[in-house]
Formats: sequence, C-alpha cells, structure tokens
Amino acid sequence: MSLTSRTWVPAMVPWRATEEGYATEANIEWYARFARGRPGAIVVEATGVRDVPSGPLLRIGDDRFIAGLARLVQAVRRASGGQTRLLIQLIDFLAIRRRPEPAKFFRRFLRITDRHRSALGAHEWPDAAVRERLAALPDAELIEVLSERELESLRMGYRERVTDIHLPHIRDLPQTLPGSFAAAARRARAAGFDGVELHFAHAYTMASFLSPLNDRPDGYGGGPAGRVRAPLEVLRAVRESVGADYTVGCRYLSEECIGGGTTVEDAAWFGVEFARAGMNFLSLSRGGKFEDAKQPAIGASAYPYTGPSGYECMPQYISDQRGPFGRNVEPAARIRAAVRAAGFATPVVVSGGLHGFEQAENLLRDGKADLVAFARQSLADPDWFQKVKLGRGEEVRVCKYSNYCEALDQKHSQVTCELWDREALDEPGIGKSRDGKRRLLPPEWKAASKDPA
Ligand SMILES: Cc1cc2nc3c(=O)[nH]c(=O)nc-3n(C[C@H](O)[C@H](O)[C@H](O)COP(=O)(O)O)c2cc1C
Ligand code: SF4
Repeated sequence: MSLTSRTWVPAMVPWRATEEGYATEANIEWYARFARGRPGAIVVEATGVRDVPSGPLLRIGDDRFIAGLARLVQAVRRASGGQTRLLIQLIDFLAIRRRPEPAKFFRRFLRITDRHRSALGAHEWPDAAVRERLAALPDAELIEVLSERELESLRMGYRERVTDIHLPHIRDLPQTLPGSFAAAARRARAAGFDGVELHFAHAYTMASFLSPLNDRPDGYGGGPAGRVRAPLEVLRAVRESVGADYTVGCRYLSEECIGGGTTVEDAAWFGVEFARAGMNFLSLSRGGKFEDAKQPAIGASAYPYTGPSGYECMPQYISDQRGPFGRNVEPAARIRAAVRAAGFATPVVVSGGLHGFEQAENLLRDGKADLVAFARQSLADPDWFQKVKLGRGEEVRVCKYSNYCEALDQKHSQVTCELWDREALDEPGIGKSRDGKRRLLPPEWKAASKDPA
C-alpha cells in the first residue's frame, strides 16, 4: 500500500452506528467528509470483531456487516478521488458493567463467599442476612470484609480482565481471538478496505495481554515473550486469512503510563517482534487505561481516558509545562530506532497532540516517525491536509484541545467539535444531532473559490 502523503487520520469512534452495529448513512457521510480533506490514510473507528451487543459501535463479527462497510469504502473512494487509503481498526474488548447502586450490589450482584461469612462471624446465617449485614457496613469495615476485586466492582463497576482465567471464556481467549480477528480481517478485505489495523492499544483485550499486569500462568502472560504471544498468534491467523499481499498493521502503546505498566523499552521490544512477524505498520498511541480511571457516577461506566494515563492519550489544554503537544514523539522515535536497529523498515505512525505543519514536517525530517496522525485536529478541521498542501495553512481551524469531543465520546453521544457544530445550523439539508442543537458534519471548505489555480 502506498499513500499520497505521510498523513493519517487515526481511529475515532463517532457513535453513529446502529444499536445492532451496522454502518449508517451518518457513518458514511462522516468518513466521506474526512476523505474530502484527502489525508494519506483514514482508519475507520474501532469495530468489534465479535458479534455481541455493544451499543452504537460498528461491528464486523459476521458477514451481514460487509455490505454496509463496503458502501462506506466506496463513499471514501469517491470523496477523495481515490487519493485516500482506507483501513479499519479491529477491536476485541471484555465485559464492563456500570457502577452499581450499593444496595443492588449487595442484594443482587455480590456472590456471598466463606470469606464474607468468616469476617462477619456469620457461618450459619442465610445468604439474605449476610447481604443485609454487608449493605449496612460502613466503608472502613467493608475494606476488611470484601476482596479487592469486590471493592472495585462496588466502587467502579465490575470489569473483566485477561487474567480472570477461572472464567472459561477468558481462559480460552488465546484459542478464540485469532479466529475472530482472522474472520473480521477477511470481511474487511471483502468490503474493499485497503488494510486492517489490529487494536492492540488502550484499555482493551489485546493491550491487556501485552501489559506487565498480565500474569497469566498459561504461557500467555508473565515475561514479554509470554505477553506478546497472543498478539502474535492473532497476527499469524489474520495473515493466513488475508494473504501476504494485504496490509496488516497494529496500534499499540508506546507506554501504558500506569504504575507497573509497559515502558518504552517493552514497547520497543514488542515493536521489533511485530516487525519480525510481518506487521506492515506500527501505529503508536499512549496511555488510556482503566487502572487509573476516575470513579464513575452511579449508573455510569468507567471511562479509560479520565485518569493520568487517559490524559497522556488525549492531552488537553489544562496541562503541565509541556502542554498537550507531541507528547508521544520521543517515545515513538525510540521505538522506531529500535525497529530500524533490528533491520526492519516497518513504518511507524505517531499520534498525540499533533496539529501543525512545521511540527509534523520536522518530526518526519528528523526520522522520529514515518507518518503523522492527527485525530482531534482532523476532527476540528478535516480540510487541514488540503489547506496545508495548497499553502493556505492560515485558514486551518486549529484544535483547542478542549476535549469537548472526548466528553461526547464518554457519554456515547454523537461526536462533533465545538469549533464548528453550532455554525450555519440553518443550512438546508444538514444532518443534526438527536436534540437538533448541533450539526453532525463540519461546514464545507470552499477551496475552489479561493484557489489561485
Ligand atoms: C472522539 C474520539 C474517539 C476515539 N476513538 C478511538 C478509537 O476508536 N480507537 C483508537 O485507537 N483511538 C481512538 N481515539 C484516540 C485517537 O485516535 C488519538 O489517539 C488521540 O485522540 C490522540 O491524538 P490527537 O491528539 O491527535 O487527538 C479517539 C479519540 C477521540 C477524540
Ligand atoms: S472539540 Fe475541542 S479537542 Fe475536540 S477537536 Fe474540537 S477543539 Fe479539538
């Protein structure tokens, strides 16, 4: 796959799919709008490889999703005049529940164990009495009675981990994931995508395998070689299903940015192993973990972009001295150097606080990365790429790093940007958010009218 420029729009979930996981007209228009800006490549949002209910997230876990995705591919081809390559991000994620009402947690969800009975001296009590007693305990005493995981379920909402090997479906993940990703990649190829990006980043299943917090004792955890095993087996299965001539890359973390998480050294080692195994590109993000997420409100789910690692993933303008700009560039450069030193030419994509032409040009020139990815800057102004190419950079709508878009993502609301979503609301025929207050797409840029050519 070759690109017309070294620019990349990384995956961003806009919450426009149907509840059943199908691509909607709004999805198609969204990607066509990005394509009119003509970046080198666009990666379609995280799309579920398993056919399980996941709200308005795209799915690719069954052949019935191919037709809708194929229409999306064609729309992007048309809108970019064939200039933009299109990939799709393939994701697997584990179950997460909302933070429960404490009363419900104790009366319904908590499984009563001998540990609770011993702590309460309640060996002979019926379950219901143990539950009532627990529900009445003050916090300080609960800490003594509940296990760490039970406390977490109470305070944050229950969340599965790849280390929960007492659960058969988690124990068997190394056997089931390769097949799910391979089938999804085959469907992506059938739909016409130019390639797939395996989602090995942030808070999801594959990143959890790579994390040092993964101490699975079955050969798929522990040291780096064990932790990279499932991701490499996924890659091998995907490669077998799509063939040698199809683009398969991954997005993973240059650092997890949590206590005891992956470091740049780990990530460099993984990068070399991925390159050796035939990954066609390495796209680097950082942070975005559940481990340090803020406590959600009762009835809401934990969101992995609310803690310090979330900040590193999507830095905003309320920041430290370094500001939100280019925080992933140096780690990416170190990983790229390690991959090159091992003799591999695998392209490295960097993202995180990139918004300016000079910044992007310099980091490419200095060999810190091979491609520059702009998520929020593309959302603020999908015409960035055209404007910069035509020497009209002063017309760029520059991202403020306000994270208004991220807040919408957190609520699973249709994602828009505050810099344009109230503009020209009376324009005929435009799509609007469910409450009618926001436009769903940025206004068109009238490039031709001002173009000196
Ligand atoms: C609304 C929104 C949705 C996102 N969805 C995804 C996603 O589906 N997959 C992913 O890997 N990253 C996702 N991200 C993270 C971005 O791809 C990117 O890594 C992050 O925003 C930092 O880059 P930036 O500073 O250029 O925005 C999302 C970001 C935003 C703002
Ligand atoms: S909403 Fe804020 S952070 Fe998001 S793209 Fe727009 S300006 Fe940037």
